Amino acid sequence: MYDDTHRRRLCSRLRGFYRLHRSARREMLRRETDCSPEELAALCGGAGQGLTARQADRMVESCVGTFGLPLGVGTNLRVDGRDRLVPMAVEEPSVVAGLSHGARLLRAGAGISTHADPPQMIGQIQLLEVDEPMRVRELLGQHEAELLSHANGLDPSLVAAGGGARSLEVRVLEPTEPDDPLGTLVVLHLIVDVGDAMGANAVNTMVEGITPHVLTLTGGRVRLRILSNLADRRRVTAEGVVGFERLGRGNPEQGRQVAHGIEEACRFAERDPYRAATHNKGIMNGIDAVLVATGQDWRAVEAGAHAYAARTGRYTALSRWRVTTEGLRGELTLPLAVGTVGGAARAHPAAMPAIRRLLGADGASSLARVIAAVGLAQNLAALRALATEGIQRGHMKLHARKAAGTGRDLSEVGG
Ligand code: MEV
Repeated sequence: MYDDTHRRRLCSRLRGFYRLHRSARREMLRRETDCSPEELAALCGGAGQGLTARQADRMVESCVGTFGLPLGVGTNLRVDGRDRLVPMAVEEPSVVAGLSHGARLLRAGAGISTHADPPQMIGQIQLLEVDEPMRVRELLGQHEAELLSHANGLDPSLVAAGGGARSLEVRVLEPTEPDDPLGTLVVLHLIVDVGDAMGANAVNTMVEGITPHVLTLTGGRVRLRILSNLADRRRVTAEGVVGFERLGRGNPEQGRQVAHGIEEACRFAERDPYRAATHNKGIMNGIDAVLVATGQDWRAVEAGAHAYAARTGRYTALSRWRVTTEGLRGELTLPLAVGTVGGAARAHPAAMPAIRRLLGADGASSLARVIAAVGLAQNLAALRALATEGIQRGHMKLHARKAAGTGRDLSEVGG
């Protein structure tokens, strides 16, 4: 179905897209992407299209219907030398316009460049009442190959697709409170390459499956066997530079001042968890909108992002913005556990067209890279507004437009 041989390279610089009527925007999507009429109908919805009640009923228990959200398309994004259109399911005004604006600023040259770790997830086994934790650590290390082979036997299709259990890690956790009845805990991590899946199913099957084997080696007892959402072996980095001239709308000196303002704003978030929570929320505005539109487990990504932001013991900003000689340089790193096989990415009819036709992603890793780039661009747009005129001016313009009934939002920032 997704044969890319004859795929056209789409252009995401759709000037005036935001100003068009909805039907003209759909027509532009039809012209600019390789969407079939069915895929376009699945994406754009309408009576009897998108997720049907029958499909929804198969996804969750006690289903009574479906719940709609606006689907916007962000423009201007270029990631690793390729243009992408950004499907965003979100209820908050100015998120889509903000992304398009940030992406336009970062679009020069190859645009945003990205790097992704291999798609490795962590499964945890909680071991209690082990007599000699250090001895158990050694023992598990000695039996690593046999445990990995047991785990791989539980998911032959993952192994056939090139993934599988890769290694073990043993952590010994001492009590943090004097009256903790658990004593020393041993936690076994099973590291699994989950390929193009989000990975929860494969990992949970493996940790549950190897637990009896682990117990015969270690003794003691086991409580939890479950995936960790702190997917810090599956990090993605997006980075980009905006020249001063572009940042200052043709005036480099003004651009330099804006860049300094953005660095000051970012350093505030790096130092202060109260500000960092809001700064990171702005990043997740864009990321979550894409996760929802592509059928991902956005709660898992949220949990991982915030836990990663607190990895040193102090919650901080996920991104860094610095003034350099070339311009303002931004970098964002976060764990991104997303999948293009299994889950809602397959069950929801709009998800694969969003992933393949708009975002131009051919697997979980390329999807994660584009999503990180969205987070970086979204963050830039928010900081630019906050460090200059504040965000209320844009919001008030939007309200005025809504009151006037045009339904067209924030045209000057979305561009
Ligand atoms: C609002 O949804 C997001 C912002 O608060 C993000 C930020 O402050 O960086 C504007």
